[in-house]
Amino acid sequence: MESIQDGAERAGQDRKHSDKGGGKASAGAGEAGNEPAIENKGGEGVGPRAGGRSLRLVMPGAGNAGGHANTERMPDPVPSAQMTLVEQLTEWARLRIDERVFRAGMRMPSIRQLAQEKGISRFTVVEAYERLVALGYLESRRGSGFYVRERAGQHAAGIAATPPLSPSARAIDVTWLLRSMFHSAEPHKAPGWGFLPNDWLDGELVGSALRGLGRQPGNHFLASGTPQGFLPLRQQLRTRLEELEIGVTPEQIVMTSGITQAFDLIARQFLHPGDAVLVGDPAWFVMFARFAAQGAQVMGVPYTADGPDLEALERIVQAHRPKLFVVNSVLHNPTGTSLSAARAFRLLQLAEQYDFLIVEDDIYCDLCPPGHAATRLASLDQLRRVIYLGSFSKTLAANLRVGFIAASPDLAVTLTDSKLLTGMATPEINERVLYKVLTEGHYRKHVERVRMRLDRARDDTRRALEDLGLRMFPGQSAGMYLWADTGRDTNAIATAGHEEGYLFAPGSLFSPSQMPSAWMRFNVASSTDPGMLRFLAGQLER
Ligand SMILES: Cc1ncc(COP(=O)(O)O)c(C=O)c1O
Repeated sequence: MESIQDGAERAGQDRKHSDKGGGKASAGAGEAGNEPAIENKGGEGVGPRAGGRSLRLVMPGAGNAGGHANTERMPDPVPSAQMTLVEQLTEWARLRIDERVFRAGMRMPSIRQLAQEKGISRFTVVEAYERLVALGYLESRRGSGFYVRERAGQHAAGIAATPPLSPSARAIDVTWLLRSMFHSAEPHKAPGWGFLPNDWLDGELVGSALRGLGRQPGNHFLASGTPQGFLPLRQQLRTRLEELEIGVTPEQIVMTSGITQAFDLIARQFLHPGDAVLVGDPAWFVMFARFAAQGAQVMGVPYTADGPDLEALERIVQAHRPKLFVVNSVLHNPTGTSLSAARAFRLLQLAEQYDFLIVEDDIYCDLCPPGHAATRLASLDQLRRVIYLGSFSKTLAANLRVGFIAASPDLAVTLTDSKLLTGMATPEINERVLYKVLTEGHYRKHVERVRMRLDRARDDTRRALEDLGLRMFPGQSAGMYLWADTGRDTNAIATAGHEEGYLFAPGSLFSPSQMPSAWMRFNVASSTDPGMLRFLAGQLER
C-alpha cells in the first residue's frame, strides 16, 4: 500500500463515515483556467474503500516564481485502507484550509476537470465538496464553482495593513508557519523551525529545578504571584543587565509570558488605529500581526550587514512619524546580524530628533559569543527612550514562557497595570524555576556549550547551502540562523516541502509586506539533513 504522507496527525477525526457513493453535482460547478488536477495513482474506481490508493494533487496558486503549479501528495491522516477516496479528499482539503494553505476566497478545482483528467468519478469529487460545504469549509457559488469560505476567527493573525498578495504568496502566511511549528515534523525535517531542538537544550536543568521546588515545604505554589513577577528573579535579572551595562532597579523589570506578551502590552500601551510602527524588513513576524491587530500601520526598514538601513529609516520616519521602532539589535532574526556601535548611536539620535521610542528585543542575548561586536541600545540610552525585552525561550525552554520588560520606572508601573488587566500575574512557578536555574550555576556552561555547537553547525550549514548555490546575507557570524538567497520563490519551496513533511521558513513571512521573496531562513541546528538538502536541491533545479 502506498502511504500518503503528511504531518497531519490531527486530521481525520471523523473518519468513521462510510462512503455513500454518489451525490449530485452542484448546479453550475464550473471550470477553472489554472486549476489543480488529481491523479488517481492507485487505479480507478470509487469503491466503498479506497484500498490504499493515493491521490496526487496539483496546488492552485502555489507555483514557483514562473507560475507553475507544484505536485503534492495526499496526506495520510489514517491508513488509506480505512478511508474512502471521498474521505481522503475531504480530509486533504480540510487540513489545508485549516492551515491556510488554501485560503478564504480561493477557488477550488472544478469538479469536471478533476474527474476527467485523472479518471476519478465526478461523484467522488462532488461528495467530498458537499461534505466540505456541510462542514463550513467551502461554499458553492452558482455558476462559478466551489470556494474556500471565510470562517470566524480566520482574520486574527492576518496583517491588515498590507497590500493584496500575489497568488503564490497567498498560499502561505504567518499563521501557517506558526501552526506548522506546533505540530511539525522531526527537527531534521524542520530547517524553518524557530527554536533549538530538544536535544540541544538541557532538560535536566529545568527538571532538577522543578524537583527542587517540589521538595520545598509550604504552599507557595497555590497563591497568585506578585503583579510584576517574582522579586528574587527580578533582582537576579538586574545583575545580568548590569553585566550588559544596563542600569535598572528590580522595580523597572516586569515579568511577562515571553517576549510575545511583552509586545502585546506595548502594543496596547502605545499603538492606536492609524499609528505607524517600524519593524525590520525582514524581522520576526509574529509582532507584525499583533501590531496590525491594534490598527497600526506596520512599516519595514531594510536591513544591512550591521543593522537597519538608517537612511531608509530616516525617510520613512520623516514621512510617517512612527510611535515605535522595534529592533532586534543582537543576532537579529532572521539575518543573524548585530547592530554596530556607530549605527546604534545614530539610531538613538534619530529617535530623539523625531521623537519615537525604540523597543529593543534581545531574545538572542545569551547566544552572543563573548567578544562579538554587539551594542545594546539600552546600554547607551539607559532606558529613557528604549524599552528592553528579554526571554529564556531560546536557550532554556520555550515552554516556561518566561520573558521580561525593562523600562523606565513610570512605564514599568503602567505596563504592570496593563498586565494585571489582561492576564493577572505571570505564573510564579515558572519564574521560580528560572530563578533556580540561573542561580544554581549551570546555565552559563549550558549556553556556552550551545554556542560552540552552533558555531560548528553554522559552518556545516553554510557550506552545504553554498554548495547548493545559495548566497548568504553578509555579516552572519553567530546565532541560530542563516539568511540565504535561494534565487527562487521560497513560498513555492515551502509549499512543496510541506507536502513532503518539511518545514521551511520562506522570506515572505519575515516581511511586513509579505511579498514573495527568494530569501529563506535556515535554523543551523536543523539544516544539514541529507534528505532535506536533496529535496532543496531538487527544488532549486526546477
Ligand atoms: C526576535 C524574536 N522575538 C521574540 C520571540 C518570541 O519570544 P518568546 O518565546 O519569549 O515569546 C522570538 C521567537 O521566535 C523571536 O525570534
